[in-house]
Amino acid sequence: MADATGFHLTGSAPQRYEHYVAPLMAPFVTALVDAADLYPGATVLDLACGTGFAARAAAAQAGPTGRVAGADVNEEMLKIALACHPRLYPDIDFTAAPAHDLPYPDAAFDAVLCQQGAQFFPDLDAALTETARVTRPDGRFAATVWARLDDSPYFTAQYRALERHGTPEAAAGYRTAFMAADRLTSALDRAGFRSTAHRDLTFAITLPPLEDYVTGHLSAIPWGQTLVEAGGEQALTSVADTIRTHLPDDTTTFPFTATLVTAVR
Ligand SMILES: C[S@@+](CC[C@H](N)C(=O)[O-])C[C@H]1O[C@@H](n2cnc3c(N)ncnc32)[C@H](O)[C@@H]1O
Repeated sequence: MADATGFHLTGSAPQRYEHYVAPLMAPFVTALVDAADLYPGATVLDLACGTGFAARAAAAQAGPTGRVAGADVNEEMLKIALACHPRLYPDIDFTAAPAHDLPYPDAAFDAVLCQQGAQFFPDLDAALTETARVTRPDGRFAATVWARLDDSPYFTAQYRALERHGTPEAAAGYRTAFMAADRLTSALDRAGFRSTAHRDLTFAITLPPLEDYVTGHLSAIPWGQTLVEAGGEQALTSVADTIRTHLPDDTTTFPFTATLVTAVR
């Protein structure tokens, strides 16, 4: 069963995640890496790395003398991360590990990045305490989480369709992808980080043609998986149809807002 409250993809969904989620993540990954002030030779952890968008961007900044690691609890996501790693920069060490129990020495990293992962940690305090442990003194932390659901017409259309045609658990799970900044900043403070700050980033993102994209993207997130498990491909298709009816048909460009949270160890 897909996990309705966490973010656990199974089967071929991680491959689809890499393909369909890439356009949504791209500008935020650039902003995330910029915020961490990476430099050639930096040691960087991509926490909850998924299929490795931020790890690959960090490797390009850290260069051949740097060291980049990616940790995620889902081995299926890591298989795609390994397959997509271009091996042009430092090798990226992808490891299966939960955020609250990382297999790295104390102060191992100059920077820890976390792109759209923190909202899914079952114990945020334990995860950030462990993150603080592996970040060197004065090292950087940068994370993004989706801000308010209502800020994005695309996400709102997805949510309304899931709420109407999916299960209550799937709709509740979907809402967990959106996180108030102060939940993250206060947990960072408790974990021993300082200079915590946050700001919203909004990008207008042009999605591929919606006829394919809406269904493909839905099938690449856990709440789409729960639809398929409950009602088969037909359930996915009918929710995707509903999403499209809630979107304008003269554009594929939509605003997306994430909160960028930064801190210093
Ligand atoms: C929305 S995906 C984001 C993946 C990736 N960071 C990106 O930018 O696409 C959330 C990721 O968090 C991972 N995750 C959830 N809970 C976790 C935990 N406790 N420890 C490590 N990873 C976790 C999931 O397996 C999933 O890959």
